[in-house]
Amino acid sequence: MATNDRLVESWDGRDYERHSSHQRAWGSGLMAELSPRGDERILDLGYGDGSLTRQLAERVPRGSVLGIDAAAEMLEAARDKCAPNMAVQQLDITQLAFEAEFDVVFSNAALHWVHDHAAVLHKIHRALRPGGVLLAQFGCDGNCPNLLACLQGQMAIPPFPEALAGFQWPWFFPALPAYEALLRALPFVEWRAWIEHRDQRFPGADAIVGWIDNPCLIPFVQALPADLRKPFRDAVVEAMLSRTRQLDGSHLEPFRRMDVWARKAKPRERMGESQFVNRSGLLQGQWQETMHRR
Ligand SMILES: C[S@@+](CC[C@H](N)C(=O)[O-])C[C@H]1O[C@@H](n2cnc3c(N)ncnc32)[C@H](O)[C@@H]1O
Repeated sequence: MATNDRLVESWDGRDYERHSSHQRAWGSGLMAELSPRGDERILDLGYGDGSLTRQLAERVPRGSVLGIDAAAEMLEAARDKCAPNMAVQQLDITQLAFEAEFDVVFSNAALHWVHDHAAVLHKIHRALRPGGVLLAQFGCDGNCPNLLACLQGQMAIPPFPEALAGFQWPWFFPALPAYEALLRALPFVEWRAWIEHRDQRFPGADAIVGWIDNPCLIPFVQALPADLRKPFRDAVVEAMLSRTRQLDGSHLEPFRRMDVWARKAKPRERMGESQFVNRSGLLQGQWQETMHRR
């Protein structure tokens, strides 16, 4: 059954590739927001198994894509997907030091693993060429409530409070108003942020357990002593299965994603007062979107 002998102790690109069809689908949808000429230089933050990085490379046949990811274990799976115009490099997003090098900075399902978005957004702005855009999607407020409840519930049961003392919560799930305030304080000339409801129905226990193990549980497993890793993992998996199980045997988890599009000023483009452009309201009943322009 679901609580088998499996224990994923570190990022694993091949395993992630098998259990990340929903992240890939969101990323492909996000990419549709881009209309590249085909000669752009793109930076992909947190490339994972490299599937989306490869898709980006195919969209810019006369350009190039650089993927960065902090996990050494992701390199192998991504390297297999490299094309002549695609390269991957092990680098932490918080260490970005590029200057005016990219036309597009893209990121899917990775930025919620980084806490200080003000610092990262400044670095992204610096990495963009004039007129370049950031396009990113990440988990936000309300994301995965069942998973968070099961993790927090288990962390409160002895011996886990002591074993996890000093553990840093891995994710940053901001609310839209707070993120808009953050964007407003940054030097992007034009930007919009919107929320998507991407509730995920996993067809069976194996599918949801694959996602819980990799990537969700990895930081918790890594923080625990060896003898407590499996008991913690099994307890969280059992709680999640019972909490998310539907009558038809599928498992349902609400996912909330924030999408952000932001543009750096073109040469000689004037930065004026911040103003709203009339795109606010509910679009297609699915997301709330407001364009901001300076
Ligand atoms: C859920 S995966 C998403 C992968 C891919 N973008 C996709 O959508 O399938 C998150 C990725 O972000 C990477 N990551 C997490 N924190 C990071 C950081 N601080 N710097 C660089 N990569 C990071 C992880 O190693 C992992 O490969």
